[in-house]
Amino acid sequence: MCGIVGYIGKDNAKSVVINGLSRLEYRGYDSAGIAFIDSGKLKIFKRSGKLRNLEIEVNRDLSLPSVAIGHTRWATHGEPTDKNAHPHTDCTGKIAVVHNGIIENFVELKNILKEKGHVFKSDTDTEVIAHLIEEEIAQGKDLLKAVFNTSQKLKGSYAIAVIYEGEPEKIVCARKDSPLVIGIGEDENFLASDVPAFLQYTNKVIFLDDDEFAVIERDRVTVYDKSGEILNKNIKTIPWSIAQAEKAGYKHFMLKEIYEQPKGISDTISGKLSLIKGEAELPFDFNKIQIVACGTSYHAGLIGKFFIETLSKIPVSVDYASEFRYRDPLIDSNTVVVAISQSGETADTLAAVRLAKLKGAKVIAICNVIGSTLTREADYTIYTYAGPEISVASTKAFTTQLTALFLTALEIGVIKGTVTKEEEQKYIDELIKIPSKMEDFLETEKKEKRIRQLALEFYMAKDALFLGRFVNYPIALEGALKLKEISYIHAEGYPAGEMKHGPIALIDEKMPVIVIAPKDRVYEKMVSNIEEVKARKGRVIAVTNAGCGEIRRLTDRIIEIPETDELLTPFLTVVPLQLFAYYIADFLGYDVDQPRNLAKSVTVE
Ligand code: F6R
Repeated sequence: MCGIVGYIGKDNAKSVVINGLSRLEYRGYDSAGIAFIDSGKLKIFKRSGKLRNLEIEVNRDLSLPSVAIGHTRWATHGEPTDKNAHPHTDCTGKIAVVHNGIIENFVELKNILKEKGHVFKSDTDTEVIAHLIEEEIAQGKDLLKAVFNTSQKLKGSYAIAVIYEGEPEKIVCARKDSPLVIGIGEDENFLASDVPAFLQYTNKVIFLDDDEFAVIERDRVTVYDKSGEILNKNIKTIPWSIAQAEKAGYKHFMLKEIYEQPKGISDTISGKLSLIKGEAELPFDFNKIQIVACGTSYHAGLIGKFFIETLSKIPVSVDYASEFRYRDPLIDSNTVVVAISQSGETADTLAAVRLAKLKGAKVIAICNVIGSTLTREADYTIYTYAGPEISVASTKAFTTQLTALFLTALEIGVIKGTVTKEEEQKYIDELIKIPSKMEDFLETEKKEKRIRQLALEFYMAKDALFLGRFVNYPIALEGALKLKEISYIHAEGYPAGEMKHGPIALIDEKMPVIVIAPKDRVYEKMVSNIEEVKARKGRVIAVTNAGCGEIRRLTDRIIEIPETDELLTPFLTVVPLQLFAYYIADFLGYDVDQPRNLAKSVTVE
């Protein structure tokens, strides 16, 4: 949700920042801009639309600046136009600010500033920051002090980076409730909303915490706390490589990430098992589990409930983080809250975690991004090893989250004595086979292109229904979410048994109904549901591992997945649905990796 990048050093700062923005475009892509200091003068370029528009404009400028800041926007206040794109400047045109977050009291601040004679050029909340800094500088403060004093007046969330003509050899940045990470190079330093922005130059990073400030110079980075004391921050090494953040010959990141799932699952199994080292090690006692998450991570949480309740017999509630935070959840020190998030920066999930901690609960994070805010605020973190997920539509994060949840459920089962060591081993053996089964499935699809063919048959549909039961009901929700977010086809996921209570009215000969029906305890029930759809002339696509059973008689559009334990079927049933959504969006000619109105990391409420 908005990406910011900054660079100071030996290279052409313009190119480094534009390059960084291209890697952060998944955070927002309705406009982009850059500011740099050339021969002592501040220059700003900004354009609505994709980053390419900005790049064309900037390429006409022949300067070689050593300091620059840039921004890719996901609009909150003000339409995505040139004037509302960041960076924003003050009345003197000497200060440039990029911002990710929301300034909640900007109207009040703007009115005060207008009374003092400030003239505003945009409709954004961000512009007030530039004018407040201008006021401070006019009173003789240096840039750091000006940003520091300005931040005291701001309510809301922000990650900001500022450059100023009067102090051209530095970038000053500050953070509150929006992510900001500093990259440490040699004779150069970086800052960004997320690590991939500078991963090709350095993997040594400092994560800023809330209410911290930093002055970034070519040869040093100084971090301050809110009382102005210098902090000694740890430098962390990020184990991701730049190759992981590139398309590697795939047409889109989403397709590449679907194909990376077997590796992500294997790596997550190894990561978690090496932590457990044969012994259960979750560090707290509890009698209730509350899962909180958003979007696809929430769907993983719904499946996690089946895993945990089946294996450890502990009651689990699952909430959308955005709902959890506004009700009075019944949790206390006997509750463990499991917060699931790919990015570790989702505002609603972080707010749910803070509420849970206030109520005395312990928090376990399941997260893909090392050092992200969630991992720093949780009491304990289980990492997923999906590698960087660039496509806005989440795929490999989901299946690695399932992996972490399954292993955690087993671990709790062993602690609580509901799973024997032999049963644990049997389940782990079955889980370890999932990556190669998934790989076989994906390789077959590469050769036979059957899902691609189905997508070709159905891409003109206006609506679609996804049905599942038991542990595959959340997969129906996930299949529908994938299809709607990238292809803009209206889709609904439903528990198959509920169909007759309403959605059956929608079924006609045009409506594709995707039925997830592996051989499990509810298979026969699913077959009856297919009969009901067929009786209304619905067009059924079945995802199954039931061989040549009844289901073949009912539908000729079958996607066959490998066999596994019934609890583990979601790992395999979700893959065809991801591919189905992908190919449909691609046939429709949409920008698969950057669907309209969405952003990867939702860092505002
Ligand atoms: C859907 C999708 C979103 C995210 C959601 C939570 O494909 O990507 O629904 O799952 O915004 O994001 P994280 O997991 O980063 O908290």
